[in-house]
Amino acid sequence: MRTHNIALLPGDGIGPEVIDAAMLVLEAAAARFDFALKTQRYDWSCQTYLDTGRMMPADGIERLQTHDCILLGAVGWPAKVADSVSLHGLLLPIRKQFDLYVNMRPHRLLAGVDGPLRAKDFDILCIRENTEGEYSGAGGRVHQGTKAEVAVETAIFTRHGVERILRYAFEKARQRSGRLASVSKSNAQKHSMVFWDEVAEEVAADFPDVRMTRYHVDALAARMVTHPETLDVVVASNLFGDILTDLGAAIQGGLGFAASANLNPAGGGPSMFEPVHGSAPDIAGRGLANPAASIWAGAMMLEHLGEVAAAEGVIAALEATTAAGQTVTPDCGGEASTWEMAEAVAQAIR
Ligand code: IPM
Ligand code: MN
Repeated sequence: MRTHNIALLPGDGIGPEVIDAAMLVLEAAAARFDFALKTQRYDWSCQTYLDTGRMMPADGIERLQTHDCILLGAVGWPAKVADSVSLHGLLLPIRKQFDLYVNMRPHRLLAGVDGPLRAKDFDILCIRENTEGEYSGAGGRVHQGTKAEVAVETAIFTRHGVERILRYAFEKARQRSGRLASVSKSNAQKHSMVFWDEVAEEVAADFPDVRMTRYHVDALAARMVTHPETLDVVVASNLFGDILTDLGAAIQGGLGFAASANLNPAGGGPSMFEPVHGSAPDIAGRGLANPAASIWAGAMMLEHLGEVAAAEGVIAALEATTAAGQTVTPDCGGEASTWEMAEAVAQAIR
């Protein structure tokens, strides 16, 4: 039987409960579609940091390397560990070490979910650059704590990095509607974003069948609200993509629905799948979290593993559950717990 070897990183806050919920659904899909998921759970989290002074063991990356994929819950417990420590100790090193340069985030309204705009036609695929740009981590602080204090954070855009994310987005646009929105801010950022636009035009020449439109990020944000039906695939830098995908999540009904795939299309290491929502410590352990995002992330993982029918089955079951509206969590207007909603999705698959 086909067996996929998955590392589970539940992490902090609501991470463990949404990962348990996602695995309930993925196991149902495995049984129904005849494959097996071999999972290994790594309880690396802010508690690990408090106990050991590290978010993951020194050989953490090597251990993750042995898996086909990583399914991650959430990282962060800001009351105990600064986010700048926890995220730079676990989530961000995984994205960088495995060169997961594509952060793909589908924003679509599931049946039965209205979202705040009540948009009828909302189906956008955001492709966010995930390894460089504004989140390169280059910079420093001097004269700390004095009036002369200076902080520098340098955004780094390489031809290699910009070109490969654009090429990936063009490929995706080709597979979907043939429309691509390239996001920059070249009217204000005259070095990096003019460069982005130039590379976009160069890559566009290789994709005559894709219609690329360039937008400034501010205008694109407004367009996502006013004319989302004019957008399909959207490609953006790390920071711009981060912000636009929270906007996309809000429009699709909230962060409880937004899923993401951190991909290295070249292979060579595991890709990582995660809900976009954070650890939500205020509701952790209470069964209030919407499992849709982690289930959807799980479906993206199955697709990446080649289990396309199972991935479609999971999404169809999730959508059947939101459409019925009976067994959904409070953020969707229901009374079900995280586990009960996941059980309804699993039942729909069975
Ligand atoms: C996300 C998150 C992270 C990011 C944070 C937690 C570093 O906001 O996945 O969108 O900005 O990438
Ligand atoms: Mn974000």
